[in-house]
Amino acid sequence: MKIKKAIIPAAGLGTRVLPATKAIPKEMIPIVDKPAIQYIVEEAVRSGIEDILIITSRGKSAIEDHFDKMPELEQKLAAGGESKKKLLDDVIASSQLANITYVRQAEQKGLGHAVLQAKQFVGREPFAVMYGDDVIIGEDPCIGQLIRAYEETGMSAVCMKEVPKEDIQKYSSMKVEPIKDNLYRITDMIEKPKPGQEFSAFSILGRCVLPPEIFDILEEIPYGAGGELQLTDAMKVIANKQGMVGVDFTGTRYDMGNKFGVLKAAIEVGLDHEEIGEELRKYIKELSKNL
Ligand code: UTP
Repeated sequence: MKIKKAIIPAAGLGTRVLPATKAIPKEMIPIVDKPAIQYIVEEAVRSGIEDILIITSRGKSAIEDHFDKMPELEQKLAAGGESKKKLLDDVIASSQLANITYVRQAEQKGLGHAVLQAKQFVGREPFAVMYGDDVIIGEDPCIGQLIRAYEETGMSAVCMKEVPKEDIQKYSSMKVEPIKDNLYRITDMIEKPKPGQEFSAFSILGRCVLPPEIFDILEEIPYGAGGELQLTDAMKVIANKQGMVGVDFTGTRYDMGNKFGVLKAAIEVGLDHEEIGEELRKYIKELSKNL
């Protein structure tokens, strides 16, 4: 079955980026000239996704405004003629990327709980999950790599990377067996392992393709690490029962949920940016002389 639907959980409190995220959703923090969540929506669209549900919460209406039409702004830019044409095109494009709808998560009870809010939207078909604070940039869109792995193996798929051993306790840890190339079979997993509980340094990072049974599991399992309903705990049940494939994906991931990730994204994407890349390169070279 073709994957046509994606959900983007973006309802978290973003406490690691406070005070910036007091009034601005972390998913709206810009990387140069586009908010993080637009990169994610564009990745979905490049991968053949047509319908997107964004899970939001109180104080996150800027996300809805961003993907909406803005007639007054468009008229103003149109009146500016040729010099404003590129800006006008960019503004219009951001409101026409996909069919985007929204649902609210009333209480921040964890990623699993956020995903559960998408039950009606998804129905009984497989779907993609793209974490709203994980931007992944690359030639081959990351969620497209997972969709191909799902189509090839018939199994749920997660994108994963090896993280530094000392950091694994902040992430999840996967038990893996190589299948071929960058594909691994995942047989077990644990969220935020305590020392000695980790299976490997491979961790799920920000994207997965899941079957609709995930909702039945989320409704049954108890709350887990940090008192939150953990998506990893439900995925573990799928991995044990149906098998799951891990894709050691190509692309660069920026964690927009922490301050250093936000800066790294701005610098690296800035260096590749056609308008400001050269200027930024010169600036960094000059600056580094005094570092
Ligand atoms: P995180 O755990 O990184 O988000 O979840 P958070 O809770 O906002 O982070 P901190 O620890 O307070 O800084 C990954 C993704 O899942 C969403 C977040 O918005 C983020 O995109 N999420 C998390 C929800 O939608 N609902 C939740 O209850 C938790």
